Amino acid sequence: MSQSETSIDQHALAEVLEGLRQPQKTISPKYFYDARGSDLFEQITRLDAYYPTRTEMGILRNSGPEIGKVIGPDAIIVEFGSGNSEKIHLLLDVLDRPRAYVPIDISAEHMEAAAAGIDADYPSLTVIPVAGDYTKPMHLPGHSALDGARLTGFFPGSTIGNFPPEEAEAFLVTARDILDGGDLLIGADLQKDPAVLNLAYNDPEGVTAAFNLNMLPHLNQLIGTDFDAGAFEHHAFYNEVLGRIEMHLVSQAAQIVHIGGSAVSFAADETIHTESSHKYTLEGFAALAARAGWRTAQTWCDAKPWFSLHLLTPA
Ligand code: AVJ
Repeated sequence: MSQSETSIDQHALAEVLEGLRQPQKTISPKYFYDARGSDLFEQITRLDAYYPTRTEMGILRNSGPEIGKVIGPDAIIVEFGSGNSEKIHLLLDVLDRPRAYVPIDISAEHMEAAAAGIDADYPSLTVIPVAGDYTKPMHLPGHSALDGARLTGFFPGSTIGNFPPEEAEAFLVTARDILDGGDLLIGADLQKDPAVLNLAYNDPEGVTAAFNLNMLPHLNQLIGTDFDAGAFEHHAFYNEVLGRIEMHLVSQAAQIVHIGGSAVSFAADETIHTESSHKYTLEGFAALAARAGWRTAQTWCDAKPWFSLHLLTPA
């Protein structure tokens, strides 16, 4: 084995190769997020065209007192992923004496950073970071702060929209098991005028294009592929039939890319599907939750309504 091969993530290599061997080439959106990808996503959340982050934060602000009252005192907040620290602050600030914050993240680095920030800002809150994949069944660590306590899950950002419907349902089943009788506060982006949706993923500044294309140099570094990012273009569109934004990388010419010992060929205009972002109706989201064993206790939206927050309780 050569020096460079020893530092290659073999699991990622096998997964990416399998996706590139499908008739519709696919790569998981998780490969967007190296340091530059996380920075670009952060920039996306501040774009005029990208409404979801600011709209969800507006709901948390406007309906915060009511959300805080429904969740109740002494809450233990289990966050699936540890993304946006501003959102968890908005939630913790409306809670009455929150007892603990448990961020679960596959990236130990993200999780430690999130945990450290919250720890410093809320001295009386117990912070219990958990490194793990929350899409798989898991047990939270034994901790005195969690003994016999009621948990409340938090999954903002419409991250659930990245999952195809069957996987979204499976995630909600897993979340119900992890929360062990507790409720789940979850964000879901809503179906709306396709022009608004299309603009949100085709910002005039080109940040979303840079975010999508960044996957290629990231993979070159992670698994030693030889993608030429200049030979692909960003393409995002709302698929009205499936109710989702699709992001693709479009090969600008016939070309061959090497991955591990294999060669993958691209025809001109052939695409790699890099992300789906499902958009829901309120009824559709409640039906999805119901299939996973949840009852929708309450829903909060902005005035338009463009985005929704749901408090789910085990059915
Ligand atoms: C982080 C998955 C919620 O789907 O809107 C933003 C990611 N992709 N612009 C989304 C994303 C392109 C985002 N989520």
